[in-house]
Amino acid sequence: MAPIRGLLTTVLVALALSSQAIAHSSHGASHNHVARADTTVASDPSSYGTHHRRTVGRRGLQIESFNPPSTFQTFGLAGEESPVLTKRAPGGLGDAARAFVASALKLDDKAVQFRSGYTSDDGIEHAYVRQSHNDIPFANAVANVAFKNNKAVAFGSSFVKPSKIADSKPTVNLHDVVPKVEKQLEGTYNNQPISLEYLALPDGSAALVHVIQIQNQEVNSWYEAFVDAHSGELLSITDFTAEAAYRVLPIQKKDIREGLELLQNPQDPLASPKGWHWYQNKNTTVTSGNNVVSYKQTEKFDLSIIGIGPATQSSSGQVFDYTYNPNSAPSSSVNLNAARTNAFYIINRVHDFAYRYAFTEKAFNFQAENYAPGGAAGDRVLIKVQDDTGKNNANFATPPDGQSGECHMFTWTQTTPNRDGSMENDIVVHEMTHGITNRMTGGGTARCLQTTEAGGMGEGWSDAMAEWTEQKSGTVKDYVLGDYVMGNTAGIRKYPYSTSKTTNPLTYGSVASMSEVHAIGEVWANMLHNVYAALVGKYGWSATAMTDPTRAEGNVVYLHLFLDALALQPCNPTFVQARNAWIQADYNRYRGVHACMLWRAFASRGLGYYANNYVNDFSVPAGC
Ligand SMILES: *[C@@H]1O[C@H](CO)[C@@H](O)[C@H](O)[C@H]1NC(C)=O
Ligand SMILES: [Zn+2]
Repeated sequence: MAPIRGLLTTVLVALALSSQAIAHSSHGASHNHVARADTTVASDPSSYGTHHRRTVGRRGLQIESFNPPSTFQTFGLAGEESPVLTKRAPGGLGDAARAFVASALKLDDKAVQFRSGYTSDDGIEHAYVRQSHNDIPFANAVANVAFKNNKAVAFGSSFVKPSKIADSKPTVNLHDVVPKVEKQLEGTYNNQPISLEYLALPDGSAALVHVIQIQNQEVNSWYEAFVDAHSGELLSITDFTAEAAYRVLPIQKKDIREGLELLQNPQDPLASPKGWHWYQNKNTTVTSGNNVVSYKQTEKFDLSIIGIGPATQSSSGQVFDYTYNPNSAPSSSVNLNAARTNAFYIINRVHDFAYRYAFTEKAFNFQAENYAPGGAAGDRVLIKVQDDTGKNNANFATPPDGQSGECHMFTWTQTTPNRDGSMENDIVVHEMTHGITNRMTGGGTARCLQTTEAGGMGEGWSDAMAEWTEQKSGTVKDYVLGDYVMGNTAGIRKYPYSTSKTTNPLTYGSVASMSEVHAIGEVWANMLHNVYAALVGKYGWSATAMTDPTRAEGNVVYLHLFLDALALQPCNPTFVQARNAWIQADYNRYRGVHACMLWRAFASRGLGYYANNYVNDFSVPAGC
């Protein structure tokens, strides 16, 4: 394959029939998600921050997507004065953001389009803009700014200066383009409106593209295709699906073995004011409501038949009292009901606690109906339990705000009887967190965790969130994910998350020899474990953190910084930028009280002050 790639350096899409791809096609319709994740390889670390190579479909189409590098500046406690902010009109966040970005990048403000924005509970105004040319926005040249008291506190940008830019009137016919891209991506156009955008390419030029969503329900693929509007060529994709690859590498924890309990009214009245069953102006009697519908899909995906998929209440008044028999197959009817109920409970619970920490309607969350202004409605999570399109895995597809997130939970075949991923909470939380990180980074576009490096951190946040939900006291334990479904104590990752360098030796520098997003995610998740342990070690642990975000304990502080940083960081962040976003988040919310502690925790794993290009640095800034 290397010589072919050498010849086609300016061509982003190459058809490669690897022996593995041929082996797959001989298995007919079955599609192995773990294998698909395993083939997600970008072998040159210098490209991790900008590129990501994916193998698509059974024919093994190779597509390398490109996102221009983001710059990211943070301005500490004081923030940065700007003339455009001091003379700003009241309330005009969009105009202020456009003026700020235009002035910072020395552009005409016509080249900057406002996309979305909101004010978070810590008083930070977030705005997300994109580059535009002849009023046509760029898909992958975007910027984000955060203001506090009319001073800038963070500014990320992947704006480009194209060496050449395609004519802004398309010349290919969409009727020809759609069938062709359906064939290339082995799926079907899903009738989402097709947009016309610019796409910055790695050779410095900008192509005009039709942006077309292609889905395949049988294999759970969901892509956004960028098709050249002058040549019809497929130039790049966004992959809305994050694979979990819960497969064979070591870890452990939290599942059905700890026993089911009957919980009364677990819904959070602030986050879900109409309860968990409210849908289309009435309460349902099934595992379906404003935040999520949890169901077993028995036929081809069709919202109109969802009524047969969810679990039905076992007695009147929203009671879902199903026991689980671990000696029976997951598919036995009582176990299926328990799985649908648990998945419904966990997704709702994550919706509710994340809401308390600013993943709200305006921050592009998932709800059928929005009860507060901002963000798009019509996008509750669809979670399919015991989905039989896969095994030994799970995945979550995050489309842009306004389209439902889709989670597919599979059964695991390592044990007899098989085990159900929906009965291991950390797997469900991991999946749902993909929805949070993809929506909050970059302002709801779901396009901003697409590079190898940012996608790797995406996996890391998901593991770290699962851990956050499962630490039970101020004694921070090492954490293992997926040990129940695997039927062993090691779980699905290589090392337990730990402050011990013997137990977990991963550092920032480890990324240089990795190529797969879950492996890279382990590095990031372990850094976050170290941040968590430092904060909880010093400030203690609150048992009410999920419902009371006002307390000062370490686990509360940690989750605030976790979500605040997502909104601050640039599109397709690097490790260094994601770290800087955490530290700026601390200045924004806590006046930087924890900043040195954060520096020390990141630096302990090689992400110190001078860390760059996957070379470790263990130092902290002067003053820490
Ligand atoms: C719907 O259910 C919630 C509890 O989930 C309850 O608080 C509310 O009163 C119900 N609404 C109606 C109209 O029955
Ligand atoms: Zn994942």
